[in-house]
Order: sequence, then structure tokens, then C-alpha cells
Amino acid sequence: MLFFAGITQKMNSLEFSFIFFILVPHTIMFGRCHDMSFSICWMDTNHVLERQDVNVWLNDTALGNIRKEGKVTSLMVPPGVENKLTLQYGDNVEAWTLRISPRTRFTEIRGRQKPQEKPTSATKGFLEILSPTEVFACENSTLFLYQDDHFFLAIGHTMRFPIQLESRSPSMLLVSWVENPPSSSSSLTVNLYHSELGSYKTLSMDTTTDNHYRFTALESCSNYVACVETQTLTCLSTITDPDTPRDFKVTLFNGSSMSLAWDCPGNNKLSSFLLTTFHLDGLNHVTEEVLSLHNKNDFVFMLLNLQPCGRVRFGFQTVCQKGIESRYSKMVLNDGNS
Ligand SMILES: *[C@@H]1O[C@H](CO)[C@@H](O)[C@H](O)[C@H]1NC(C)=O
Ligand SMILES: *[C@@H]1O[C@H](CO)[C@@H](O)[C@H](O)[C@H]1NC(C)=O
Ligand SMILES: *[C@@H]1O[C@H](CO)[C@@H](O)[C@H](O)[C@H]1NC(C)=O
Repeated sequence: MLFFAGITQKMNSLEFSFIFFILVPHTIMFGRCHDMSFSICWMDTNHVLERQDVNVWLNDTALGNIRKEGKVTSLMVPPGVENKLTLQYGDNVEAWTLRISPRTRFTEIRGRQKPQEKPTSATKGFLEILSPTEVFACENSTLFLYQDDHFFLAIGHTMRFPIQLESRSPSMLLVSWVENPPSSSSSLTVNLYHSELGSYKTLSMDTTTDNHYRFTALESCSNYVACVETQTLTCLSTITDPDTPRDFKVTLFNGSSMSLAWDCPGNNKLSSFLLTTFHLDGLNHVTEEVLSLHNKNDFVFMLLNLQPCGRVRFGFQTVCQKGIESRYSKMVLNDGNS
């Protein structure tokens, strides 16, 4: 962390030297933006990323451990938000901010170092090793942020990103991928990384002959990077669902007011609480639903001025929010005064 703080300081002192903007048009047919996946891609040979003085950060998390010597690695990045990408290469530190806007068909890159559209012959050599069926996740609108004989860093998108999150729970992520080539029975390696002290660390490594894999025994409301290794190492970043809140109950009811109380899930991992108040009519039909979001440090709520004979029920959930992803726990119900 201290190491990174030093780099940040160095960057800030240089930051205003040469800031520029470039806009990259994407060719999108039929506007099917949802099929498009944006990634950052990198590859090293000669153990470049094992060096102490070489690393790549996405926002403030180091990606250097997500690698396989001699294989193109890619990590999907979320569109619509600003992602900060930093490269330290020896004494040289470069930083870019990327804002990908699929709707306006532009990617905005800010930094001091202008990206290159053409691969160098070394990069071209790395990419030509891939078989035609293998997807290079930065294959379209590719921009190279850094290239030398043993390392490149690029951004781009693809319409055929091969891996997908199928489902999840508070303790599990189910990831599937396109078999390549179909019906091949050889086994693949699947890796899971978890960010810890500002850097992604390997959490598990396994092999499978299936086209899907269930990562289990995970922590709720936590960020993970799941990777599938074929000729490339292709990764997506996602979060697990939050656990349900505990001890949700009505603590007081005096005819016109009602007090509610609750507690955090066991591991304390959440962003906020969501309370749904269901107002009921005489036939127990819901006439109105009122949602209210509560800070993660709030543990009581008072419903005042209930109508005489007004009847209510409650649903209560935890919310986990990281970046653009928001996930809700299962709803815990309480009959209120109904
Ligand atoms: C994306 O890249 C692939 C592989 O290079 C190519 O076949 C395809 O035409 C490209 N698509 C667009 C929209 O540029
Ligand atoms: C019920 O409690 C609320 C809040 O403490 C108070 O304002 C209200 O006057 C009470 N109503 C009755 C009928 O006691
Ligand atoms: C990077 O940080 C920005 C701003 O805080 C956030 O919106 C974005 O989702 C982050 N990106 C990733 C990949 O976590």
C-alpha cells in the first residue's frame, strides 16, 4: 500500500503535464450494446510481471498476479464508469482514465501517453499464436497503451466474450464458457482471485472438463475475479450476493406507531439495508409498497402516524454495492400488525 501511495504521489506531480482526450468510435451493428464486452488485456514473457518494479493497477488494485507466462490475459471492465488504469514499468509510471460509453459509441481515454492503434511486430507475434477460434478479448477497437518485446497492455472490446456469470449466491459463483473447440474433452484450468491489501491474490485453482464451474465457499458481498485458462486467460470480475439480515423484528407497536429493529448478517459485509413496507387493505391485498434505504449503521426504524386500522407488513433485505453492481439478499418477511 505504501508502495502504491508513493507511486500516486509521483503521478500527481506529473499529472498536469500533458493531459489529452481521444475518442474512439466503435462500429456497432444494430446497437446491440449488451453483447459487447470491454476488457483490458495484457501479456508478459520473460517473467516481466514477476518483477518488483512492474505492475498494472485497475483503480487501486494490482492485477500483476493475474497472469500466465506467455498467455494473453484479459479482464472485463464495466462500461459507463471511470476506470483508472496505472502501469508501473521500472522507473516509468503511466496512468490513464478510461470511460467507455457503449451508448454513445465512444471511449474516452485520458493520460499523458497516447495509445497506439497498431501492434508492434512483437505484439503481433504474440497475437498470431492464438488459433482462429480463440477470442482475443480486446480484438475490436484495440488500443495499445504499452508495448515492448516482452510485455503489452491494451484495451478493446469483443462481441464474442467467451465467459459468462450464470448464477450466484452469497457463497457461490457459477461461471460458464464457450467450449473451444466444441466437444473437446481436454481439461481446462479455472482460477479465482480475491483482492486483499490492494492486490489480487490467487484463492483457488482447479481443472475441469465441463464448460462451467462452480466456485464455492466464498464470502458474501465480496469482489472476485474468475478466470478460465485456454490458450488465453480470460477473466471477469464480479461480486457475490449479500447474506440476509438477522433478527428483523417489530419491537414496539402502540396503535399509531411501530418500531422496527434488525442486525447485520454475520460477516458484517453489506452496503445498506432496504426496507419494503407493504400497506394492506381489509382483504390483505397490497395497496402500496414503500421502499426505504437505510444506512448500514442504522439498526432501528420508526413508522409513525399509522392510520387507525391501517395494516402493514414488511420485507427486509441487505444490499451489496460495488462499482456498478448492486445485489440484494433474499427478503426477510415480518407480518407487522397484519
Ligand atoms: C471484431 O474482430 C473480429 C476478429 O478480428 C472481426 O472478425 C470482426 O469483424 C470485428 N468486428 C468489428 C465490429 O469490428
Ligand atoms: C406511540 O408512540 C409514538 C412515538 O413514541 C408517540 O408519538 C405516540 O404519541 C404514541 N401513541 C400512543 C397512542 O400512545
Ligand atoms: C473504478 O472506480 C470507479 C470510481 O470509483 C468506479 O465507478 C468503477 O466501477 C471502478 N472500476 C472497477 C473495475 O472496480
